[in-house]
Amino acid sequence: MQQRTLGTTGPQVSALGLGCMGMSALYGHADRGESIATIHAALDAGITLLDTGDFYGMGHNEMLIGEALRSAGANREKALLSVKFGALRGPDGGWLGYDGRPAAVKNFAAYSLQRLGTDHIDVYRIARLDPAVPIEETVGAIAELVQAGYVRHIGLSEVGAETIRRAAAVAPITDLQIEYSLITRGIEEQILPVCRELGIGITAYGVLSRGLISGHWSREARPAPDDFRTLSPRFSGANLEHNLDLVDALRKIAEAKGVSVAQIAIARVLARGEDIVPLVGARRRDRLTEALGALEVTLSAADLSAIEKAVPPGAAAGERYPAAQMSSLDSER
Ligand SMILES: NC(=O)c1ccc[n+]([C@@H]2O[C@H](COP(=O)([O-])OP(=O)(O)OC[C@H]3O[C@@H](n4cnc5c(N)ncnc54)[C@H](OP(=O)(O)O)[C@@H]3O)[C@@H](O)[C@H]2O)c1
Repeated sequence: MQQRTLGTTGPQVSALGLGCMGMSALYGHADRGESIATIHAALDAGITLLDTGDFYGMGHNEMLIGEALRSAGANREKALLSVKFGALRGPDGGWLGYDGRPAAVKNFAAYSLQRLGTDHIDVYRIARLDPAVPIEETVGAIAELVQAGYVRHIGLSEVGAETIRRAAAVAPITDLQIEYSLITRGIEEQILPVCRELGIGITAYGVLSRGLISGHWSREARPAPDDFRTLSPRFSGANLEHNLDLVDALRKIAEAKGVSVAQIAIARVLARGEDIVPLVGARRRDRLTEALGALEVTLSAADLSAIEKAVPPGAAAGERYPAAQMSSLDSER
């Protein structure tokens, strides 16, 4: 497995990470046995970075990962756990805001350690900036958890350039987790340069735009009412038609190279820099195998320019989140 380093201060990790969110939440039904088998297959293939959030299924995702690690045998020690906290949920699954107060940070960590069945978290980060709490206080609390040995590294998620600078002034930051794909390139202008200046890596999520540019989504797909994609502007009406036209253009390039659309999309993010680690949201072994195939895809200058022509910057129709969630993104200010 190819390796990359998370920022200048972070650990070495596999060049692809596995994002486990969809195994518990947001993308409709997932098969529990197949999810665990997918985590095992990822570890067997040399993937070391597993990403979760304590709010993915209100603890479900962490307990699932804990179970997968307990039954993973010798591979368990290889896993590096990246955990997000701070999103508040109601019993009905509603989203109630964010909590980045220092006492809350430590409380979230205590529960995560228990659910994961581990004595430390490798990378810990707040999922969204809590507008009521200065980032210095939230990062300061994680730094205390590092001092105490409960956390190894500090990350950030979906924050903008100014917040990144303020956080990095408090403690070393290993990586920023943020959406980055062929059709979501917002970070290229300001955020990526700041991360590079400060030696902060990127763990890129939504590399397949939540399945939209995986080559497996169709005009006929009908996500369940509790599936994030039911409410996502990019998956709706005329936007979906337009966005799948982009995928059709990409498919021609993929076919000419004898690879899949998902592999082209992942390979293009991999090609953007050694400091970027794509997190793929596979929750089935066949999807994981396809994603791993992207590591073998070499994109020539001609391939990259054909991809650029098929999907130029800003080509997607629709925002990447519904309006209410867009407004909670410090990275979009
Ligand atoms: N920091 C944040 O704010 C944030 C936000 C969202 C996610 N994340 C993290 O990033 C991870 C990845 O994000 P994502 O799930 O949105 O990413 P994604 O990889 O763009 O999308 C995953 C979706 O694409 C489908 N898919 C189709 N072909 C695939 C293939 N070959 N490999 C993988 N998936 C394929 C998946 O499986 P099916 O075909 O089975 O549906 C799933 O529905 C999450 O699991 C989570 O850990 C972080």
